Amino acid sequence: MLIDTYGRVATDLRVSLTDRCNLRCSYCMPEEGLQWLGKSELLTDDEIVRLIRVAVTSLGITEVRFTGGEPLLRPGLVGIVERVAALGPRPRMSLTTNGIGLKRTAEALKSAGLDRVNVSLDTLRPEVFKTLTRRNRHTDVLAGLEAARAAGLTPVKVNTVLMPGLNDDEAPDLLAWAVENDYELRFIEQMPLDAQHGWKREGMITAGDILESLATRFRLEPEGEQTRGAAPAERWIVDGGPHRVGVIGSVTRPFCAACDRTRLTADGQVRTCLFATEETDLRGALRAGAEDEELARIWRLAMWGKKAGSGLDDPSFLQPSRPMSAIGG
Ligand code: GTP
Ligand code: 5AD
Ligand code: SF4
Repeated sequence: MLIDTYGRVATDLRVSLTDRCNLRCSYCMPEEGLQWLGKSELLTDDEIVRLIRVAVTSLGITEVRFTGGEPLLRPGLVGIVERVAALGPRPRMSLTTNGIGLKRTAEALKSAGLDRVNVSLDTLRPEVFKTLTRRNRHTDVLAGLEAARAAGLTPVKVNTVLMPGLNDDEAPDLLAWAVENDYELRFIEQMPLDAQHGWKREGMITAGDILESLATRFRLEPEGEQTRGAAPAERWIVDGGPHRVGVIGSVTRPFCAACDRTRLTADGQVRTCLFATEETDLRGALRAGAEDEELARIWRLAMWGKKAGSGLDDPSFLQPSRPMSAIGG
């Protein structure tokens, strides 16, 4: 079991498969990209499957989420999913992606055993998409979303970050579109995890702003705490149901007290939190020949040291040195 000193138990493992991405969202990375990890730094497919096996069989992990960067850029993804699906007990598996590669891979991922996907889409306007992501791939994302729904990778969730002056007027249009297409839309507050360190609390669109904007067109009723569990999204029932909309208020409504997550970066470091300032090197132990039990022990010890919260409200808060694309979203 992965338990910390506050009594929280991590059952949800987020695995970053690569730090690379084929978009350049302005809240994430600069136009020119970043200094990517080298091939020898990345865990191999075998190493990833081995660490997931240890997490599932010895540490009580029941949910595995693949993230990036953009996880569909990892050539071995379908094989990794297939091998994780064969583990006993079989964990639930999901993927958080920008959607571009889904048209090509959704069917194969479903057959390999992936349960569902979350796709990032911030706008319905191709021109705004181009400005925000610095790439002209809006049509590909929409096609990817449809392919995921058709393949049964459901519920398909859509993640939207609202940026002032760019897409902050689009919340009601996005919700109307999501309801029509049967996607579960969630709005995410922008967090200080961009490589450029450009985040400002004053400029951020808050959960409160988002709900106010949605209320101009929809009747929203809170779903209630009992269904939330450790999920970062608070959900509202839209116009009496059955559709829901979520708001992930990581900054103004933190959910750290219920956090059930542990993370593995693409270069084999355990992170206790998105905002952790320290990492624990599992790759080093793995490559030095550690047995499964030793890997499990290192992981347990790392999680025992998990801090109470993100520390975002501390005056001394320091943004993690690695950006979100390297940590895993
Ligand atoms: P599901 O609802 O089960 O699909 O999970 P999820 O919402 O965690 O998945 P997803 O990967 O789509 O993450 C959505 C957003 O949640 C991320 O962009 C983050 O903004 C936020 N998030 C995920 N993990 C954490 C975390 O550990 N801490 C904080 N503060 N935010 C997180
Ligand atoms: N703040 C909030 N969300 C972010 N994402 C990427 N960078 C940030 C940030 N700085 C979102 C992506 C994706 C999810 C994994 O995280 O849009 O949907
Ligand atoms: Fe790529 Fe995701 Fe970062 Fe956008 S937010 S550049 S899709 S890793």
